[in-house]
Order: sequence, then structure tokens, then C-alpha cells
Amino acid sequence: MRQRIAIIYNAPNPDLYGTTVEKKASLAIIGGVEAVHQALVESGYSVVRLSLLPPLESAKESLKCLEADLVFNLFEGFDGCPETEATVADFLSELGLTYTGCPGNALSLGLDKVKTKARLETIGIDTPRYQLLDPRTISLFHLNYPCIVKPYAEDGSNGISEESVVHDFASLERQVTTVSNRFGRRALVEEFVDGREFNITVLGTNEPKALPASEIVYSLPPEIPRILSFSAKWDHQSIYFEHTKAVCPAEIDLELRERITQTALLAFRLLGSRGYARVDFRLDTAEQLKVIEVNPNPDISPDAGAALQAQAAGMTYNQFIEQIVHLAT
Ligand SMILES: Nc1ncnc2c1ncn2[C@@H]1O[C@H](COP(=O)(O)OP(=O)(O)O)[C@@H](O)[C@H]1O
Ligand SMILES: [Mg+2]
Repeated sequence: MRQRIAIIYNAPNPDLYGTTVEKKASLAIIGGVEAVHQALVESGYSVVRLSLLPPLESAKESLKCLEADLVFNLFEGFDGCPETEATVADFLSELGLTYTGCPGNALSLGLDKVKTKARLETIGIDTPRYQLLDPRTISLFHLNYPCIVKPYAEDGSNGISEESVVHDFASLERQVTTVSNRFGRRALVEEFVDGREFNITVLGTNEPKALPASEIVYSLPPEIPRILSFSAKWDHQSIYFEHTKAVCPAEIDLELRERITQTALLAFRLLGSRGYARVDFRLDTAEQLKVIEVNPNPDISPDAGAALQAQAAGMTYNQFIEQIVHLAT
């Protein structure tokens, strides 16, 4: 009998968002689900889809009723509650289901950029210097400008715009206030690392392997900060989108490629990742590599970085998805 795979994902709710671009970002999950579905069908699996809706309790009830040999986990957390991504993975483990991608503890660690930084630092992996600040503690600021102010437990460049990069106290205070108010917690203020940006996807369980790295190449006018902002990811009309492109494989020498690869493999293991994860880096002015973040279960849509890297490694999209299925435990 054909193996039955259930794809689980969050039912998007674009009505929760005010702008067209935010609505589009929230719907992007559907493109990924469709692509994975098609790849699995073409590989001979019998596929069902289950979209999960809040509250968590009813999502859990529907998971209990799943009749599948394997769960393909594309659940990214409910709108406004990114931490539910990890809760659902934990629940799949509790139910004894075989599922793709990372376990709950890696997902929850990856979501928390501060915990990830602390963990990476224990084995000497460099990350940008940082502070967690809110409007009441802003006078404690002691980093060097420029800095970037971002939420510490979000993804998809949520809350990251041109204004996030600050050069003076007035703009720092403004951004810390904006981020703290919007996300209801302290803002992560990091020193801005202004060099080349790379990301690399790691696949595996006990013996993970890294795919070829990508470089995010910016051709923005000099007055606009080179960052992968929310617009760069989602707003096709924006100057950011137009002037940001992923080049894979990155044009780098062997030494840098080795450094990126080895650091990514260490970070993958350190977070307890399984299946697939992507590590984002920047180089500083002294060519030192800094980890910006680790993304367990990153976007695997056909146009996302991970899929481009798989292609550069010689895999078709279907083979890449099949590989993720094989790595499920
Ligand atoms: N300390 C930093 N220095 C330079 N650029 C940064 C820094 N932190 C974030 N960025 C830029 O912002 C983008 C998004 O930040 P990131 O922390 O990866 O958030 P997300 O989890 O939303 O992807 C990065 O891809 C990078 O371009
Ligand atoms: Mg990122």
C-alpha cells in the first residue's frame, strides 16, 4: 500500500492584517503547501492535508484523529502566536507520530533569538553584540551605532523595516518603543553587521550535511540600509524587493565556504535540530562571520533559499522534499 502522508499547516487568516502586503505574506504558506503536496503525489505518496485553526486544543483534537503514516509538518504557528509552532511539534511527539523537521525544543529555541545567541556563544560561535531594551531601560544602552532594533521572537522579517537600522539615540528610542509596543516585550537591539550576507541550509539527523550557501546580494542605493526587510521578502513593488536577490551558490572562496559550512553544522547540532534548518550569517568589517539567526524548519517553498540550495546541490524539488520525508523520525 502507498505510504500515507498528512501535510499539516496553519490555516491562513489574512483578515487579521491591515495591509495588502501583510495579507499576502500570511497567504504565502498555501503556495508552499501546494508545492509540497504536488511533489509528494509525484513521488507516489497518498497525501491528505490538514489545516490547523486556533485554539490549540481543537488543533490537538484534530491531530489525534489523523490517519497517516507520516506527518509533513508545515505548521508555522498561529497568527500572533509563533510559539505554537513548537507546541504542535511537541504534541506530534506525544502522539507518537513520525513527522518531518525539527522537534519542539529546537523550534522554540530557534524562535527565541536571545536564547539562541546565548547557546551559540557557549561554544564560541560569534553573534552580533546585543541588548534587550524597552522604553524604561533605554538609558542602559551601551552598544556601538549603527544598530538594528528587532523583535526577538518573530520570523519572516516581521517587524523589520528600513527604520529598524538606527544611527542615533532619538531613532533608537523611537524604534525600541515601536517594537516593544507592537510585540509586547523588550526589543532586541543588535550592533549592525554591515558586510556580505549568507545563508545555508543543513539537512540530516545524526550526520547532518550542509547544502551550498546562498548570498543575499543587495543593489540598493547607499542611503537605504541593506537588510532583508519585510518588504524585501513580501512586497514585490518595493525598492527592497527589486534590489535584493539570492545568489546560489554564493561566490565565495573555499576558506569562507568551509567556515560557513562548519559553523552551520555546529549551530544545527547545538539547537537539537532534525531534518532541516537554515542558518543566516553576515560578515563584519574584519571579515569575521556572525550568526544572525538559526531557522529550524525554514521556508521550503520552491522559490525559497532552501530549495534553491537543494537545486544547486543537484537535487530536483521532488528529491529535496523526498529527502525531508526520509529524514522524518
Ligand atoms: N545584527 C544585524 N546586522 C545586520 N543585519 C541584520 C542584523 N540582524 C538582522 N539583520 C538583517 O535583517 C534580516 C532579518 O533579520 P532576522 O534576525 O533574520 O529576522 P527574521 O527572523 O525575521 O528573519 C536579516 O536577514 C539581515 O538582513
Ligand atoms: Mg532571518
